[in-house]
Amino acid sequence: MEYAENILGTIGNTPMVKINKIIGDIPALVLAKYETFNPGNSVKDRMAVKMIADAEADGRLKPGGTIIEGTSGNTGMGLALAAIVKGYKMVCVISDKQSKEKVDILKAVGSKVIVCPTNVAPEDPRSYYSTSKRLAEETPNSWYVNQYDNPSNAAAHYESTGPEIWKQTDGKVTHFVVGVGTGGTISGVGKYLKEQNPNVKIWGIDTYGSVFKKYHETGIFDENEIYPYITEGIGEDILPKNVDFSVIDGFVKVTDKDAAIYTQKLAKIEGFFLGNSAGAAIKGLLQLKDNFTKDDVVVVLFHDHGSRYVGKMYNDEWMRERGFVEDVAKNASDLIKEHQDFPLITVKTEELVGHAIERMKKYNISQIPVEDTTGFVGALDETDLLRKYLENKNVADLPIKEVMRKPFPIVNKNTPIEEISKLIQKENNAVLVDLGDGKFNIITKHDVISAL
Ligand SMILES: Cc1ncc(COP(=O)(O)O)c(C=O)c1O
Repeated sequence: MEYAENILGTIGNTPMVKINKIIGDIPALVLAKYETFNPGNSVKDRMAVKMIADAEADGRLKPGGTIIEGTSGNTGMGLALAAIVKGYKMVCVISDKQSKEKVDILKAVGSKVIVCPTNVAPEDPRSYYSTSKRLAEETPNSWYVNQYDNPSNAAAHYESTGPEIWKQTDGKVTHFVVGVGTGGTISGVGKYLKEQNPNVKIWGIDTYGSVFKKYHETGIFDENEIYPYITEGIGEDILPKNVDFSVIDGFVKVTDKDAAIYTQKLAKIEGFFLGNSAGAAIKGLLQLKDNFTKDDVVVVLFHDHGSRYVGKMYNDEWMRERGFVEDVAKNASDLIKEHQDFPLITVKTEELVGHAIERMKKYNISQIPVEDTTGFVGALDETDLLRKYLENKNVADLPIKEVMRKPFPIVNKNTPIEEISKLIQKENNAVLVDLGDGKFNIITKHDVISAL
């Protein structure tokens, strides 16, 4: 029989997966260390159990105690799983920029969750660093984990993640690329790989709004580098003790927009449904492409799972609201992309207004072109109908000819969005797009506004 003693026994030994398409023309073999196969769906399970085991061993954590941690979600998940198996209580202090899914998931595994504001200085009593420390002081028989400065964090990756990567690549790994938050992953893996082969290059992925890159390059902790950012899991406004700058060869910064767009791309292009720091990591790897040759074996570590980001980077509206849209609509073709396969809904001049209303309700549309045998001769929209209704309550029985306004202007597929915006005004709620072969589609005010 083959089974784990409990869920903690399934941590580690995650697969390595070849990345095929998204890397474009990078000549190297690029492999993903795919950490979502851990039971808490992130790499952080590894360090969570190690931090607990070490704290138990030296008496910092006692039977029945309360574990308290400031966490962006994933460490909390790993700790919560271990707390369940080992009989501890778990309190997670989380910042309000983290996704709602992460909070709900932590609660689902029995953790108490306290949410703190993101945009305050670390020393501010409301920050999640200060709140975690205060709670640990106030709670009897508690242990404050402090993943930032706790050496067991990097040690876990030195003992498990690093050796796995070395073994899975048969010692051929030449570059390791990974997002940096507490620094545990990069420092532990980096130290192990460099001990096996000092020529292995270790690249950290940082974000705009974080201090790591500049500090690594200049030794200056520059407060001007600190500002709010959206990317989750990587970058810091402090220097955690777990970041061992001596094993890191360089940092690259990735924008919030690129990280979000590449999170979506990993899912759509490779079938890798992963978290936001994976998007940052793959985009950072692409930014580093000139460093890789055909004989290289590049390993990029993906920290966590996409399910934690369904309301954010995998939600098109959330992406659009932040301007995280790659293909900016330029012409009529772009504007009809979403609905060009649906037939254009029209009414005939001989029909009654009631028929038009029926069709508009059925297809949930606010305007409708009117045709006769010669082509488009008019249009109807909600405002016309309301205006007419106020004059005549029996509007539904009127012939369409009596109510319709002039036809929508017709553009072609290449008409620029600026020209279309000018055509859509008070007189025209929409324009028609001539697709050739007698086929037409419609661009409404809503389409243009959504594209903006
Ligand atoms: C999603 C995600 N990515 C990246 C990181 C950074 O990993 P590390 O803290 O080991 O530097 C974290 C850490 O919290 C994370 O949760």
